[in-house]
Amino acid sequence: MSLDLDFVRSQFPAFDHGSPAFFENAGGSFACRQTVDALTNYYTHTKVQPYASYAESATAGDQMDSSRQRWAEALGVATNEVNFGPSTSQNTYVLANAFGQVLGPGDEVIVTNQDHEANTGAIRRMAERVGATLHEWRIDPATGVLDPAGLEALLTGTTKLLAFPHCSNIVGQENDVAAITALAHSAGARVICDGVSFAPHGIADIGALGPDIYLFSLYKVYSVHQGLMVAQNGITEALPSQAHYFNEGYPEKRLTPAGPDHAQEASAGAVLDYIEATHHHHGGTGNLRDAAAAVSELWQDHETALLQPLLESLASNTKVRLVGPDSTGSSDQHRCPTVAFVPLEQSPEAVAQALVDHGIMTSHGTFYADRVLEGLDIDPSRGVVRVSFVHYTSIDDVTKLIAALDTVLA
Ligand SMILES: Cc1ncc(COP(=O)(O)O)c(C=O)c1O
Repeated sequence: MSLDLDFVRSQFPAFDHGSPAFFENAGGSFACRQTVDALTNYYTHTKVQPYASYAESATAGDQMDSSRQRWAEALGVATNEVNFGPSTSQNTYVLANAFGQVLGPGDEVIVTNQDHEANTGAIRRMAERVGATLHEWRIDPATGVLDPAGLEALLTGTTKLLAFPHCSNIVGQENDVAAITALAHSAGARVICDGVSFAPHGIADIGALGPDIYLFSLYKVYSVHQGLMVAQNGITEALPSQAHYFNEGYPEKRLTPAGPDHAQEASAGAVLDYIEATHHHHGGTGNLRDAAAAVSELWQDHETALLQPLLESLASNTKVRLVGPDSTGSSDQHRCPTVAFVPLEQSPEAVAQALVDHGIMTSHGTFYADRVLEGLDIDPSRGVVRVSFVHYTSIDDVTKLIAALDTVLA
């Protein structure tokens, strides 16, 4: 069964009046119609303080609760393990503060240089502040890939925390979250996994993968501008509450103290209606977790088919250095369609602009992954060009991109 792209694109208002060749999805995706409708509905009918007894308020609260329940089902976790916060950066900042209250001299913390700064910057500063020892699990300088053997060498009996990405927003290759988490857990460490770059390509079973914390940004997953954070394995209670003292008894407030954006939280579950509709359209049945798993597979099969010719084109072009693996990989080394490259004879800025002039929506920079670029010996002040796509991208878009690249890089 392959993804029905006409059906998919009919679910996105961005395609109502044209066919944009959008290749900056790793920055933020288009929102599906269900998300847009839910926001409009909230602002039109229930824009009041939620959880009071009058009808509009009760409905608003029900919608917020429903988003949490539905996301929990889709992610294979308990409802009170799902937290919404203003963004992933904000969620990791608060987390680092919480860990800073329990870690100190003699404790060890491991971060990677494959992460977006949001997943390790605050943790690095926290470790320095409290006197914990910080280790960096480093990428292969040629490929950008993280080898679990490197992690094994860093883990000790006093490692308390590991932070790593499900997938880098520059390198694109998926890391084996279950295996890495099991390794860190066997050493007694807690695990934070940044799923921001992976989630647009797959709604994973976070309960089965097992990290104590799993974060992603809903605005990259066809939804609202909120950060979603799963906190499981009892970590919510194990860490000091960051909420107002009278809210400590509410698990969903302990690690996300900011007042919720009611409309966005109420609308956060609507993208799951889209995922369910996709599942049913393709003949699927079962619960929301079944739908998430099946639709993720449809998305990835479609993306992988489109990614291979793009990687082949860039890998064979002598005028660029392709970042990350040059093939879509075997099934256990899935590569997401986030493709960065360094032009060797022009600046990334000039190439990105030339692509824009050819109708390709893309850009250049470090994408807050400066440490990844440094680890690959790429000058962050020049950056890279990044082209990223998702399941609603068509083969025509990719063909247009490859043709534009051939012209621009000639
Ligand atoms: C891999 C990755 N992690 C974390 C973040 C930060 O997410 P947010 O914008 O929600 O703070 C981003 C944002 O681009 C990202 O790409």
